Amino acid sequence: MTATDPKLAQKQAAAKAALSYIEDGMILGVGTGSTVNCLIELLPKVHLKGAVASSQVTEDKLKALGIEIYDLNQVGVLDLYIDGADEIDAHGNMIKGGGGALTREKIVAAASKRFICMVDDSKIVDKLGRFPVAIEVLPQARSYVARELVAMGGDPVYREGFVTDYGNVILDTYDLDITDAAKMEAVLNNIVGVVCHGVFSAQSAHLMLKAGDQGVQTVKF
Ligand code: 5RP
Repeated sequence: MTATDPKLAQKQAAAKAALSYIEDGMILGVGTGSTVNCLIELLPKVHLKGAVASSQVTEDKLKALGIEIYDLNQVGVLDLYIDGADEIDAHGNMIKGGGGALTREKIVAAASKRFICMVDDSKIVDKLGRFPVAIEVLPQARSYVARELVAMGGDPVYREGFVTDYGNVILDTYDLDITDAAKMEAVLNNIVGVVCHGVFSAQSAHLMLKAGDQGVQTVKF
């Protein structure tokens, strides 16, 4: 997020709306990205027991505010996870992972009862796939997985100089036909060497806070 982010005001509005879903004394699952950063700035306004962070970057920001960090294994099930998305469709399926935190995000989302997705209106799509799917890959499997993706019609681009929190690499993959998000999620899961990827269908959002020029709209899925 920069001062010149044209969507900053919308991101801030979505984050402000998300605050009302946070219950007193809860342990909150916190996503990653510029929209989540707007939420993190507001967290001192609510009373949390603590948070489970979806990335090292988020963890550092939460710690700087004095928010206690819990390991997901300590907590078990979370009541609420709040995150952003790169794209979201009319069913709450998402592409995430622009920030490279997709694996930890998907794990925390899977362990949460509810996923609230905060977006500005540029993220709404009829069909997922204009934004590339970030695919986290074990380093040794990079070229094998890339060939499999090409065979599927994809165009994988190695994210140069980026290493995930788990020490893996990312292939940002364009041109995948995501007509059926659940099916694509399963197909990608089945490629040997893929750790995780940014198609979120099994972990789709339960509620979307969509910020636009007219304010924030709440959409339940
Ligand atoms: C990071 C993510 C983010 O949620 C996604 O990239 C959206 O980020 P932003 O709020 O900066 O637009 O999945 O891995």
